[in-house]
Amino acid sequence: MQKRKPPVSKNQQVELKIEGLSHEGAGVGRINNFTVFVPDTVPGDVVSARIISLQKNHARALYQSIMQHSPDRVSPPCKYYPRCGGCQIQHISYDAQLRYKQQLVKDAVERIGGITTHILPTLGMEYPWYYRNKAQVPVRQKGNTLNVGFYEKRSHNIVDLDNCFIQHSANNRAIAKTRSALQELLIPAYDEKNKSGVIRHIMARSSLATTEVVLVLVTPNSSPLPHQESLIRKLRRHLKELSGIVQNINPAEGNVILGNRNKILWGKAHLTESIGGYSFKISPKSFFQVNPPQTESLYSVISNYANLKGTETVLDLYCGMGAISIYLSNKAGKVIGVESVNSAVEDARINAAQNNVENTEFHVGKAEDILNLFEGNNSNPEVVIVDPPRKGCEQKLLQNIGRLQPSRFIYVSCNPATLARDLNYLTQEEDFLVQEIQPVDMFPHTSHIECVAKIIPRRDS
Ligand SMILES: C[S@@+](CC[C@H](N)C(=O)[O-])C[C@H]1O[C@@H](n2cnc3c(N)ncnc32)[C@H](O)[C@@H]1O
Repeated sequence: MQKRKPPVSKNQQVELKIEGLSHEGAGVGRINNFTVFVPDTVPGDVVSARIISLQKNHARALYQSIMQHSPDRVSPPCKYYPRCGGCQIQHISYDAQLRYKQQLVKDAVERIGGITTHILPTLGMEYPWYYRNKAQVPVRQKGNTLNVGFYEKRSHNIVDLDNCFIQHSANNRAIAKTRSALQELLIPAYDEKNKSGVIRHIMARSSLATTEVVLVLVTPNSSPLPHQESLIRKLRRHLKELSGIVQNINPAEGNVILGNRNKILWGKAHLTESIGGYSFKISPKSFFQVNPPQTESLYSVISNYANLKGTETVLDLYCGMGAISIYLSNKAGKVIGVESVNSAVEDARINAAQNNVENTEFHVGKAEDILNLFEGNNSNPEVVIVDPPRKGCEQKLLQNIGRLQPSRFIYVSCNPATLARDLNYLTQEEDFLVQEIQPVDMFPHTSHIECVAKIIPRRDS
């Protein structure tokens, strides 16, 4: 087959109508059917743009001017938005963001999954700002001051921020006060190149239910912090909502923020959050959904799809600190949670006990190995829920779930592409059918979207 020559060349100036949005939130236009991604544009815009890079089947361009504005374009409230990589679609009205996210899920499921199913309108937030309960920011030394913020778009430079529109205000305050305290005490940032200095990251985690904040300072080793006692005093004085200060030790180079060891410097390491009337203890390393109001919406969709009558055994795979298991416990006969992180399982057991829930059990292990659980006394679960990380499920797990033959299978996903890949396998290789998918906007103003897929055996359709 003859290779098709791209219809554009590098540095060429082009005029484009933006017709869609990519999964990374960039506008998508076409020139003779050749795809051009243009960040910071909106479907409906007509732009003049310069091609900055060229691949075999797509190009990337930066827009110079907008010749026609999309009706969905809005002026982003955050002054850092043009540079900061934290948000991707703040320049699009919230209603339109919800529509595009629905379309994004539909595109992924159809193109990658080869599946046509009902994709419901995205469930959005009433007030989609200041929602994130966890901030993790890198720290860099700049002369006598510290740069603290998120990474710039497509770079490892830090955008030094004093406020973030999607972070809970308590996190914004905690980070600002920590920065000032560190600067005043001349506690330096860690420098990866020279392997000198102290602070790598600051993490602030806050609870909507109790308004507590836990601060985690990530350091490369376990040495006490310079001026540790003064730092604790300052932070406690300036942050009334502070309930704990933790030193997390992460000697490893690379992108993983938290290491395995924690030292409590003051107060307690965990937070308590409340969802659906249950309270949850969350340790620094345990996964917890970042958007508490939308977590209520997400769990209520899961509960509707599970359609429990009170007698069923439910298998909650990738259960974290047990939130879904406990949320469903009063509607099920029994819930079995499986999770690979030991401390999360410890939290799950404590959470069940503290909420007086007696029909849950939690196991440390890989979801892929679940069949072992059913070799003893357990009967097969009627309902299986999976909520994997972004990379989705291993094929072995999907095969195992096929063998368990649940009558309801609920797949919760934060990545439409891997969801679509796994749905393809479940419908082609296992005998499942996807009834519908509900997108839930857990991450307003970013290109991310959470989905809940309702899957049933084909025989029941
Ligand atoms: C998206 S979180 C889901 C948490 C939980 N369902 C909730 O709503 O809070 C994914 C969880 O899967 C865990 N995990 C990752 N790989 C795993 C595996 N192979 N088997 C079991 N758990 C795993 C992670 O530690 C994390 O807690």
